[in-house]
Amino acid sequence: MEFSLRYPSHIIFGEHKVRELGQQTKVFGTKSLIVTGKNSMEKSGILREIADDLEYYGIKHYVFDGIYGEPDTEMVDQVRRMIEEEKIDFVVGLGGGSALDVAKAAAGLYGQNLPTAEYLNQRPFEYQGIPFVAIPTTAGTGSEITLNAVLYHPELGNKNSLAHPGFQSKCSIVDPVLTYSMAPEITAMTGMDALTHAVESYTSKMANPVTMAMAGKAISLIAEGLPMAVKDGSDKMARSKMALGSMMAALAFAQTGVGVAHAISHPLGALFHIPHGLANAILLPTVIDYNDRCCHHQYVEIEKMLGIQKRFGDFVRDLLMLLPIPQTLTAAGYIKGKEEELIRKTFTSRSLSKNPRLVQEDDVMDILQHCL
Ligand SMILES: [Fe+2]
Repeated sequence: MEFSLRYPSHIIFGEHKVRELGQQTKVFGTKSLIVTGKNSMEKSGILREIADDLEYYGIKHYVFDGIYGEPDTEMVDQVRRMIEEEKIDFVVGLGGGSALDVAKAAAGLYGQNLPTAEYLNQRPFEYQGIPFVAIPTTAGTGSEITLNAVLYHPELGNKNSLAHPGFQSKCSIVDPVLTYSMAPEITAMTGMDALTHAVESYTSKMANPVTMAMAGKAISLIAEGLPMAVKDGSDKMARSKMALGSMMAALAFAQTGVGVAHAISHPLGALFHIPHGLANAILLPTVIDYNDRCCHHQYVEIEKMLGIQKRFGDFVRDLLMLLPIPQTLTAAGYIKGKEEELIRKTFTSRSLSKNPRLVQEDDVMDILQHCL
């Protein structure tokens, strides 16, 4: 057995830990840029709280609040320009996966001369980045742990992963309190993304005892916490389980990669703008059944861990039905006619090589048919 593990330098977890931002980041310099979504953090008062804390430690802050919808290379270019113009020392991503991925890519590409789209097209570069600090406000994407940013390329209509070991955050603050205001639909979608990370990591060809321990615990936490967090967003215990479950799923999948659900969900996002977590939520029960012949033993382990009498795929199917989100790809916005393009884009994903079952083109069609 052999494996290597790569993690952010510092992970802080706990309620109200966001208040430690200034204290933890003063070593990075005196000029920060907060990358966030329009209005939401401002409305909830979190942005003000963070800004006050940074100022207390003598750190000047700038705000880029142009994150909306899918994160794309143009948003990263805008943030990179702001970093250069204002001579920013470190970047704080505050928000869901979109804000974190844009902040991460912009900080990581500091010192590079070409537009972000070039690097998304696999152009190699030597990392010269500035520190990236991650503060997630959803419980799902795991971007506070991973070393990649998933970005949309507006000209090619593709979603791809831009990755470098230097991209990993220098400090991640996972504060469940920041997720309290998340709407039930977003809680459901991001939570199912986290569950998909955990399941695909647990059964990944790259899984090892360390990642399986974390992915297994993440599956238990999310299975318990998700229905409660969706039903009552103010349930602190449920929110804490989801924040921890999501983070542990990311600690696992950042090492092992994911699988065929993610390989299909990225083009579904690029072609039909189906949110990433929603696409995974709809695909996951079918993907579990599809992979069963190659990882039945792992599913039995999960069933024992959860203490359930039904098959794991059916358990996830029943969980999905409890959630206030579209239950089929058609209801989510899928339109027939682009199957060829979708399959071609699915097969550009590196995630397929980690999937326990060798995926053929017909298999992708079958999975899609089951989910329409
Ligand atoms: Fe994901």
